[in-house]
Amino acid sequence: MYQELFPITYYFYPLLEGDYRLGGHRETLDQIMGTEVKQAPDSLIYLHIPYCHDLCQFCPFHIKIANGDDVYRRYTDALCREMELLAQRPYVALREFQAIYFGGGSPSILPVGNIRKIFETLHRCFKLAPDVEVSFEGEPRTLGNPELLELLKEFKTRRLSFGLQTYDELQRKRFKIVATLADVDRVTENARKLGFDEINVDMMYDLPGQTVTTLEEDFVRLKASGFDSVDYYNLHYFAFPKNFKHAMERGEIPAKPNQDMHFALAQEIRWRMQEMGFRAVADQVYSVKDRVCEYFRILWGGGYGEHRAETLAVGSSARGYLQGIAYMNTGDVNTYVSTVSASELPVAKISARLETPENRGAVFMSKFFSISKQHQAAIESIPASLWKGWSDSGLIRETPEAFVLTERGRLWTTNIMRDSLELRQQELAHASLDFIEKKPGVRTGTF
Ligand SMILES: C[S@@+](CC[C@H](N)C(=O)[O-])C[C@H]1O[C@@H](n2cnc3c(N)ncnc32)[C@H](O)[C@@H]1O
Ligand code: SF4
Repeated sequence: MYQELFPITYYFYPLLEGDYRLGGHRETLDQIMGTEVKQAPDSLIYLHIPYCHDLCQFCPFHIKIANGDDVYRRYTDALCREMELLAQRPYVALREFQAIYFGGGSPSILPVGNIRKIFETLHRCFKLAPDVEVSFEGEPRTLGNPELLELLKEFKTRRLSFGLQTYDELQRKRFKIVATLADVDRVTENARKLGFDEINVDMMYDLPGQTVTTLEEDFVRLKASGFDSVDYYNLHYFAFPKNFKHAMERGEIPAKPNQDMHFALAQEIRWRMQEMGFRAVADQVYSVKDRVCEYFRILWGGGYGEHRAETLAVGSSARGYLQGIAYMNTGDVNTYVSTVSASELPVAKISARLETPENRGAVFMSKFFSISKQHQAAIESIPASLWKGWSDSGLIRETPEAFVLTERGRLWTTNIMRDSLELRQQELAHASLDFIEKKPGVRTGTF
């Protein structure tokens, strides 16, 4: 059914429209925030720290390279101000949050005192579930700081996550990853001592010139490291700067693996991770526990077609989803700081509402490789001809309770996801892909 792999997977849905399409985004959000919620669905907080000390060559995220207490203090103050503003809104005030995710950039590079202030403000402003799950992302050099780890433990952080990417020193050098493998060992050792529930690492495959044989070194080292979970991403080449791309064209850097090699690598990862005791608990997520962390379980609708979970965005370029609308705060830190200082919400982009809200649950079927038949409206938001096509091509099989992606279907999750989008959303997906393909080095953030 499919010949060419669609290169993008989505983490948020519906997709954002450009500012130019839907005006009045601040008013729309203000309106939502002004309504009181009687029975809130599962609720999450995503908190974005956009800073890094150095730029890894492949990184597409909304990050700023910055260093200096003044920069961090100003941002921390603005974050806390934004939380206070949000806490005053009826839509937020009474609801309880089940999970909080600190993402970036690299939240670990903030001074420890600033992180304490952020935690204290979170606890003061929001009602957090007694067993709220806190995930904290960082980069290995700064996350290994024992004082930071103690603080994270004090605020009951359950899950730590950092980018390891690969053990291959040549590739690390090529990508200008400044954290060393010794930094990785240090953060792992220090975190283990404090007994965090879950230590997660990000790995990448589809690296220049990579083959199934060269992938093996990463497995051997991963096995010895004993992490609890691994996010295994295929490397996107959109963000690489021009000189990196030119070096690839000149053959100084080996080429991106072709589609056949991509499939061979993806399959090898699936088998070898399983052999090493990791279960594929979500698309791109392997864990020795039997399930993905709470934040992603809730964000993607519980894995069974649920569409109602909501996310409150905090921070410059943070993304959220409330009352059927996805939105994003401004990525410009100066605008962010001045907007919240003027007591306004810093939202810059919003999505349209879906024609069928349940389609959101259907789209995230790809994340958990299945959708329960209990969510009939979600299933019906995808045309019957598509279900038939997937089934005839051996990508999906039906059980009495659910539709389940087959082994083959798991290789095509991005295509299945794209085709599950409502038509208007598919247009947006193709328009934004066109845009990023034409603009080398473009920073897209998470999709
Ligand atoms: C926000 S970063 C993680 C935390 C931290 N900043 C670090 O790098 O250690 C999220 C992850 O996205 C993945 N990532 C970054 N650039 C990517 C790309 N071009 N293609 C695929 N995955 C990418 C990396 O594995 C990275 O660790
Ligand atoms: S991969 Fe992580 S550390 Fe590297 S630039 Fe991106 S966010 Fe920063």
